[in-house]
Parts: sequence; structure tokens; C-alpha cells
Amino acid sequence: MMVNDSSFNSQAGDETGRSIPTHIAIIMDGNGRWAQARGLSRTEGHRAGVRALRRVVQACGELGVRYLTVYAFSTENWRRPVSEVSALMRLFVEAMESYLPELVERNVRIRYIGDLTRLTRPAQLAMQKAVAETAGNTGLTLTVALNYGGRAEIARAFRRLFDDLESGKITLAEVDDNTVSNYLDTAGIPDPDLVIRPAGEKRLSNFLLWQVAYSEFWFTDKYWPDFDRDDIAAAIADFGRRQRRFGGLGEE
Ligand code: FPP
Repeated sequence: MMVNDSSFNSQAGDETGRSIPTHIAIIMDGNGRWAQARGLSRTEGHRAGVRALRRVVQACGELGVRYLTVYAFSTENWRRPVSEVSALMRLFVEAMESYLPELVERNVRIRYIGDLTRLTRPAQLAMQKAVAETAGNTGLTLTVALNYGGRAEIARAFRRLFDDLESGKITLAEVDDNTVSNYLDTAGIPDPDLVIRPAGEKRLSNFLLWQVAYSEFWFTDKYWPDFDRDDIAAAIADFGRRQRRFGGLGEE
């Protein structure tokens, strides 16, 4: 099993010596309100959300961020009208297909977290294709959370862990927090340094519950479809001014 030391939080520095987050996680919120404000359909809002994601992937790659994780569809989003869920499934397929060549060219590696089995077959296939075709890429790792919920992920980890305990693959005494990290969907990905949530809400909405233990948070009232390079740069600059102590007394 891949070893994931969840305390791994080393950050690169920019030209001013300030630290760049290794891993940024984003709750892409506000697509519906953005569309409503313009008299457009919610689907148009999600389409604009894909365009924002494209800008942010490019900016993160250029700014030296190594991992970007985005919340695209939560375990709770199934409660939306069937028409919106179907439109989102079609949009995932369309976006993955049209955008894949650009992601390959940008050396982006795609991963997903969540339980794909409930997605439409075309959405599952598009995701698996994107993962396979970018597996060898060495630039930004873009992780897409699809049918993802932090609690469901932890329950999945429990099931796998109990299976391995039962079969004797590991012993109870060996289980520590790194073991748990290694059973999560995010195994091998360092914990997020910075979590960004646009569109005004200040909540986690079941995103990466275990992984955000020591993350910094950055909020903006802007809707996700309006999010651009300047916003990501502002979030990173703000992150660079924070003093992270991880429960200690600071780095000095
Ligand atoms: C939340 O806004 C956004 C979503 C539920 C969907 C996000 C998905 C994308 C941007 C597409 C990503 C595509 C790929 C291929 C990864 P909301 O609808 O809850 O907005 P509201 O709160 O204003 O109604």
C-alpha cells in the first residue's frame, strides 16, 4: 500500500520567499446563483463553472501548486431535481472529453475521489479514461470529487480496514492516523494546505473531513463562475502571510 504521511506539509516558496500551498482544495459554489443573476439556466451556471475550473487549473499549474482537489458532485447533490443531476452528468462527460487534450498538454494528472458506481455509465467511462490517459503525467494532480462525501469516504475506509484486520493483513496495534489516511480515497495525496470556498458560505459541506485537520481556509463572496487567476493568486498570497503551527508554538 502506498505510504501517505499525512503530516507531509512541505510547501514551495515563490520568488518573494513566501510559501505556496502544495495542495489547494476548492468547494466550487455559486454556479446556480451566478446563472440566476443573469437570467440563465442553472446548467449554464455549471458550464461557466467548468470554464472557471479551466482557468484555475492553468493558474495553479503556473503558480507551482502541486495538487488541486475540487468538489464537483457531493453525495448530497442527488437530492437536486433529476433534470439538474442529468445535466451535470452530461456536463462531466462533455467537459472531460473536450478538455482532456488540454490537460494532457499541460501535464496534468487526473484522479478522482468518491464512489463512481452511482454515476451514469458514460460519466464513469469518461472519468476512467481521463485517469488512464493522464496517469504518467508529472505536473499538477487534479483530483475531482464525484459522488463524494467525507463521511461516506471514512465509512468506506473503515470497511477496507476491517477487511484487512480480519484477513490478518494488518494488526490492530499497527493502526494509527497515517494508517487511516492510507485507507481513504485520497491515499498518497498530502492533506490540503488551503481550502477555498467562494459564494459566501462558510461551511465544509462534508468535504475532506479527515484531511482538513490543519488546513487554512479562504473565503470570498464571488461566485465560482467568476473566479479567476487573480482570486487564486490572492488566496495564495493570503496563505503566505499565515503562520501555521500545527498545534505547536510555531516554526521559530
Ligand atoms: C455548486 O454550485 C456546484 C456544483 C454542485 C457543481 C460543480 C460542478 C462543476 C463546476 C463542473 C465540474 C466539472 C468537471 C468535469 C470536474 P450550486 O449549484 O450549488 O450553486 P448555488 O449554491 O448558487 O445554487
